Amino acid sequence: MDLSVNLAGITLRNPVILAAGTAGTLDEAGDLVNLSRIGGVVTKSITREPRAGNPTWRILPERAGMLNAIGLANMGIEAFVRDVGPRVRDVPCAVFGSVAGFAVSEYVEVARAMATVPGLAAIELNVSCPNVHGGTEFGVDPGALRELVGAVRDAVPLPLVVKLSPIAVGLPGIVEVACAALDGAGRPAGPNGRPGADALTISNTIPAMAIDVKQGRVRLSNRFGGLSGPALHPIALRLVHIVSRQVARERAVPIIGAGGVLGWRDAAAFILAGASAVQMGTALFVNPKRAARVPGGLRRWAIRRGAAKLEDLVGTVQDPERIEG
Ligand SMILES: Cc1cc2nc3c(=O)[nH]c(=O)nc-3n(C[C@H](O)[C@H](O)[C@H](O)COP(=O)(O)O)c2cc1C
Repeated sequence: MDLSVNLAGITLRNPVILAAGTAGTLDEAGDLVNLSRIGGVVTKSITREPRAGNPTWRILPERAGMLNAIGLANMGIEAFVRDVGPRVRDVPCAVFGSVAGFAVSEYVEVARAMATVPGLAAIELNVSCPNVHGGTEFGVDPGALRELVGAVRDAVPLPLVVKLSPIAVGLPGIVEVACAALDGAGRPAGPNGRPGADALTISNTIPAMAIDVKQGRVRLSNRFGGLSGPALHPIALRLVHIVSRQVARERAVPIIGAGGVLGWRDAAAFILAGASAVQMGTALFVNPKRAARVPGGLRRWAIRRGAAKLEDLVGTVQDPERIEG
């Protein structure tokens, strides 16, 4: 059974990717996850300047997942390229460099520097961080996103993945935001000749909060954070399905499903909904060994479904059976 995935020209050995910010700056999760058994890893989101992030509490358990308000803590692009960059080539799976920022020029500067790292497979633009002021601005404004993606597209020769926000679920709506990311405003360029994104990650955490009722106090120092984990899965599944049906299939753009994947069943649901690959984040906090078990589960599932290769099952979910009367 062939589990490999062609993701905008990048070949992954299987569709399992460790999500941004949950596996360390690069591959520190490799101490606990066998990285040669998964498809890829996304770096922590890197900004132009180093950031200490928010004070504690910035991670809390929740009933159906976890809340985080890390606040984009990271070492900054200069230190990343100098100290972490040389290790990228040795990581035994595809490495996606996550880029975050607060202005178009900042994203471009960080992406350009990130793209110089030898062995990096692709850039993932984080336009959907709910834990910093202005972190989701680009993710919910199609005009701003088009300009941002176009500018980064023009600046970097690597495949470009744009990680959308689930809060585009209201207006203007995920389809409009996905189209903005794909259209971009750049010159048709990059390895796939597209003016915007080569792939979409759907999606990031959803804005949320927690209150300690005994003390009558907000629990996260940042007041608000992002909810991840199982509670997010059905929400992200719907977004993947909508974007797949209305945009991505027609344009042959791969989707990476993210949100609440704890095991192979959750990954399989994303694949049926239209995702070519999946990311796992919160699962690593539950048990990091889960990630390396997902490919085996998917293999057995695809065989039971009678598929020749896993990719054949992407987007094949059937419409509901209607029971009359
Ligand atoms: C502790 C923590 C840190 C995160 N940091 C980042 C980050 O730096 N950049 C980013 O794009 N997403 C970040 N995320 C979001 C995850 O990459 C992922 O999109 C989200 O958690 C949903 O997937 P999950 O339910 O499997 O965790 C973070 C999530 C958590 C829990």
